[in-house]
Formats: sequence, C-alpha cells, structure tokens
Amino acid sequence: MNITTIGRGSIGGTLARLWTAAGHQVTTLGREGGDASSADVVLLAVRHADIPAALAGVTGLEGKTVIEASNRLDGEAPHEGHASNAEYVKAVLGGPTAKAFNLNFGKLLEGAAEAPSRPDNIWVGDDATRAVVEQLTHDAGLQPRHGGPLDRAGTQEAFAAMYMAIVKDADAGLLYYRFAPPQGI
Ligand SMILES: NC(=O)c1ccc[n+]([C@@H]2O[C@H](COP(=O)([O-])OP(=O)(O)OC[C@H]3O[C@@H](n4cnc5c(N)ncnc54)[C@H](OP(=O)(O)O)[C@@H]3O)[C@@H](O)[C@H]2O)c1
Repeated sequence: MNITTIGRGSIGGTLARLWTAAGHQVTTLGREGGDASSADVVLLAVRHADIPAALAGVTGLEGKTVIEASNRLDGEAPHEGHASNAEYVKAVLGGPTAKAFNLNFGKLLEGAAEAPSRPDNIWVGDDATRAVVEQLTHDAGLQPRHGGPLDRAGTQEAFAAMYMAIVKDADAGLLYYRFAPPQGI
C-alpha cells in the first residue's frame, strides 16, 4: 500500500517504521505539510488541537481513506460540535474513515509482534475501511477488533481515559490489552 502519515511522532513515526518493514511505501509528513495525492490510505496521528491545521496543510486529502488515531485528553471536546475527532475528519474530507490505534501506546508498538499472544487494536469505522485497517493492524503486530461503525468513535475516544486509569491502577508500566476466546485464556 502507498501510505501517508500526517504526524511522525510516537504513533505516526513508529507505525511508519513498522509498515515500511512490512513492505509498504510510506511517506511521513509533519508541521511543514505536504501532498497526499498518491496515498491509498492516510494515517492522521497528531494531537487533538493540531488536527484542523494538519488537514489544512496537506493537499490531495479529499475523499481519501483515513485512519484517525488521536486522543482527547483532559476533557477536550471534539472539533466543531462533532461527536468525535474521527467524525470531524470525515466531515472535512468526505472519504471512508476509521478510528484506530488510539488505544495502543506508541512505545509498545515495536514489541507487539513478539508478544506471546498478539495484543489487540480496537477500531471502529466505515465498512469500506475494514480491509485496510485489518491489513495495517496485522502489519503493526496487532490483532484488529472491530467495535462497530464510525458513530462509535466518540465512545472509543472516551475509553482512552479508562484505559489510562487501568494502566495507572495496575502500576506495572504501560499495558497491552487483548480479547481472548475461553480456550485462549
Ligand atoms: N503516544 C502515544 O502512545 C499515543 C497513543 C495513542 C494515541 N495517541 C494520540 O496520537 C496522536 C499523536 O500522538 P503522538 O504521541 O504520536 O504525538 P507526537 O509524538 O507529539 O507527534 C505529533 C506529530 O504531529 C505532527 N504535527 C503537529 N502539528 C502538525 C500539523 N499542523 N501538520 C502536520 N503534522 C503536525 C508533529 O510534526 P513535527 O514532526 O513536524 O513536529 C509530530 O510529528 C495524539 O492525538 C495522541 O493523543 C498517542
């Protein structure tokens, strides 16, 4: 796949390295912006407050398949009255959109493929994104878990606060998570 990441930090940069290693063509963009015309899929991995500027600074995004990975911290509201950042992005760009990778720590992604059982990556989004999200999730060493349509993205963004609370309460450093069948426990 031809992938453009907008954001090349902990999430965007790490996923870009993993996807490049898996054989994809990956272009990473930062604050300088750029062009995404040739991308089959765009990963948007910038901080909540930077999303509008990031979309405005990249050409060729209209109608693209987008995987949106942001979290809203400290009670930040989604942009322009939307129920989630992912739905805001879909309203601006108009293409198939998914929310994914926001419930995984950038610092743990490099080790996911070597874990005894694959950690999960909960995602929600448009049906048209399923094949791409599943492929890129596998290629990042994770197991995709589909939680429903894009209108669940607000729930997924809100879950990040619980995930952080679980991590803090466990007091064992950063955590993966995994749904498992009974015989897999
Ligand atoms: N870190 C995690 O473990 C983690 C986990 C799950 C979700 N998230 C979410 O993922 C998003 C990214 O987090 P991160 O930790 O990867 O952030 P980060 O390491 O701080 O990287 C942010 C990236 O955003 C880019 N950026 C900022 N403004 C931009 C603009 N106007 N146009 C294009 N790119 C712009 C920066 O570009 P430059 O390179 O030019 O500075 C940088 O590459 C956040 O919403 C965060 O909540 C993070």
